[in-house]
Amino acid sequence: MGTTDPNRLPGAPAGVRLRPFVSELAVYAPGASSGVPAGVPVVKLSSNEGPEGPTPAALAAIAAEAPELNRYPDSGALHTALADAHGLAPNMVAASPGADMSIAYLAAAFLEPGDDVVFAWPAFVSYALTAQKQQANAIKVPLTADDTHDLDALLAAITPKTSLVYVCNPNNPTGTYVSSAALRAFVDALPEHVVCVVDEAYSGYVLEDDYPNAIEEYVKAGHPRVAVLRSFSKIYGLAGLRVGWMAAPAWIIDASIRVRGPFDVNAMAIAATIASLGDTATIERRGQENAVRRESLRAKLAAAGVASTGVANFLTVTVEDAQATTAALTQRGVIVRPLNGFGAPTKIRITIGSDEDMALAEPILVDVLSN
Ligand SMILES: Cc1ncc(COP(=O)(O)O)c(C=O)c1O
Repeated sequence: MGTTDPNRLPGAPAGVRLRPFVSELAVYAPGASSGVPAGVPVVKLSSNEGPEGPTPAALAAIAAEAPELNRYPDSGALHTALADAHGLAPNMVAASPGADMSIAYLAAAFLEPGDDVVFAWPAFVSYALTAQKQQANAIKVPLTADDTHDLDALLAAITPKTSLVYVCNPNNPTGTYVSSAALRAFVDALPEHVVCVVDEAYSGYVLEDDYPNAIEEYVKAGHPRVAVLRSFSKIYGLAGLRVGWMAAPAWIIDASIRVRGPFDVNAMAIAATIASLGDTATIERRGQENAVRRESLRAKLAAAGVASTGVANFLTVTVEDAQATTAALTQRGVIVRPLNGFGAPTKIRITIGSDEDMALAEPILVDVLSN
């Protein structure tokens, strides 16, 4: 092969046997965290992080674990704690270094090259990135005009080649959700060769009465082909530690265990997560406070003529040019996420921050977005 081989990554020496498709893979682009002019106070609302850090109990658990880091981690106690917290058998849960890696495990376990993965679009980009890594096809089904899942179109997109279908609930980046009744009708209509993955990374923030708890309604109820993802990155404030998990029938957990790494979840993450699970009052308070801040921003934007969607810790608005609006907000210290990378060049996503964050950001958001 010559040095002009298009399948070669820049800098790869001639003659090495890099798999050609690797140079075609897209690289995940995180939300921005800089670009604000010097001297301007910065509010980072671009990555849907929770504004509070680990709970006090989790911080204490991390400190207590640190001297033991010469030992390899044992995730058994975390699996027991997760299972107990949700009334599941321990073989129906699998922790991971972030829900993102649970998605990677599912892709590794289920997707042959050429298989289809069906999901709404825009939705969480990892469904597409992990499919590409298996040389599977990401089948992106456009959201409806009001930015919700088009469940009929998702069903219609399923073929004999479809292995997985994702329902991102609530959906990142639009914040819209699928109701309990709608999800039930969708799951009931799925053909038997398809596994449905319900991604509930933001579930702690959603207070709507008809929002489903898919762990209760499907996994605990014994549905054989529904897996549910949860994350400790958001409301639990552990994004930097990387911990998420999947609740699923034992056979799906078994498959995911076979494709994961031996010590994927680190010891501090295990200790912090077990401690966090015991502090339900803190998590409930965070959910309530987020809703108050979110609805405050929604109301102020609405009063300025700007409509928004979202029931989680972010709101999504439509603008003329997402990049230009993002740049204008960044100039004034407010960093948000333009959704160009999600195929939505007229939308921006605004994470709900702390009281202090929102006091700074709200007037700027109202001013820039209403102009
Ligand atoms: C819908 C959705 N699922 C999964 C994840 C991944 O979360 P984690 O940090 O646990 O990997 C995210 C992260 O933003 C997300 O938005």
